[in-house]
Amino acid sequence: MNAKITATAHYVPERVMTNFELEKLVETSDEWIRTRTGISQRHIAAENEATSDLSTKVANSLLEKRGIPAEEIDIIIVCTVTPDHFAPSTAALVQNNIGATNAWGFDLSGACTGFLYGLETGSKFINSGKYQKVMVIGVDTMSSILDFTDRDTCVLFGDGAGGAILEPTESGSGIFDSILHMDGSGGHFLHVPGGGSRMPATVESVQAKQHYIRQDGKKVFKFAVKGMADVSERILKQNNLTGDDIALFIPHQANKRIIDAAANRCNIPAEKVLINIDFYGNTTAGTIPIGMNEAVEDGRIKDGDIILLAAFGAGFTWGSILMRWEAS
Ligand code: ACO
Repeated sequence: MNAKITATAHYVPERVMTNFELEKLVETSDEWIRTRTGISQRHIAAENEATSDLSTKVANSLLEKRGIPAEEIDIIIVCTVTPDHFAPSTAALVQNNIGATNAWGFDLSGACTGFLYGLETGSKFINSGKYQKVMVIGVDTMSSILDFTDRDTCVLFGDGAGGAILEPTESGSGIFDSILHMDGSGGHFLHVPGGGSRMPATVESVQAKQHYIRQDGKKVFKFAVKGMADVSERILKQNNLTGDDIALFIPHQANKRIIDAAANRCNIPAEKVLINIDFYGNTTAGTIPIGMNEAVEDGRIKDGDIILLAAFGAGFTWGSILMRWEAS
């Protein structure tokens, strides 16, 4: 019993921040950001807008598109590294906001690979036969952990959310393979040092900017290029597929050059690669479900299509998923 996606949705905050605005905050330029990353703008949450708000918009849209009441959802998985709180989980906030009175759920921390970890986890619940409808949301409010005086990080990220409903299918379509990895030895290259039990918030830690995301961009870039390309190539090989068989490649959107490297390695031509980094930047767990929903809405994904997903992110975490799309 495979899990298939029966609805997709996404939401990004209204406010758009262009590269030109960032030029006023840090020493950077629109030209540098565009040519080094592919990003032109990103969406930034309003002051009173948190991760559960973005997630709730996606969750309500998923229910509406699928045409089911919230009571039918069995499990809610919110993949995020920017939850509203340590406790309760963002999943619990979403459950209450949408009135999913029969659901249980949890937050899942997989950074940029979060949505792939979430799809794998959700699909295993479906495979078990015990659960019929699992909602998986990939969401991050990166602006809440961005230092807008640090040009190494603030130009790269944006806020956004996307999601999917997983349900069983007996047709053989749906998610049919996955490869997921984690290597914690790379954790210090991309991390938020403060705010957890290792370094609880103090006046000193806040003044020392320990609660913002930090990275060694060059190191991350190197690992990301290799990790995402390797795992994309490997999942195709082990399924006797080539780039020609792929109707659409939806990669994590961190840097256009990382995406190009993975697509080239798999011989997937540019027209089959979903790229929306120019509009949203890196929304961490949000990138893949946002891209997937855009592709569904504009007709780029059709019944029977083989779709390849791949991601790399903090942890390090990385992975790939293959699915055959089945229109509901
Ligand atoms: N604006 C202008 N100039 C900058 C900026 C900036 N924001 N940042 C760095 N520079 C300068 C550097 O100081 C350097 O100057 P120099 O040549 O005088 O020394 C020059 O630009 C080149 O810097 P590099 O670090 O070599 O630039 P690079 O081509 O490696 O691009 C980048 C940097 C975009 C951060 C890249 O390494 C990258 O994308 N890394 C991956 C990081 C990432 O995506 N992290 C997110 C999470 S992980 C994930 O999602 C995969």
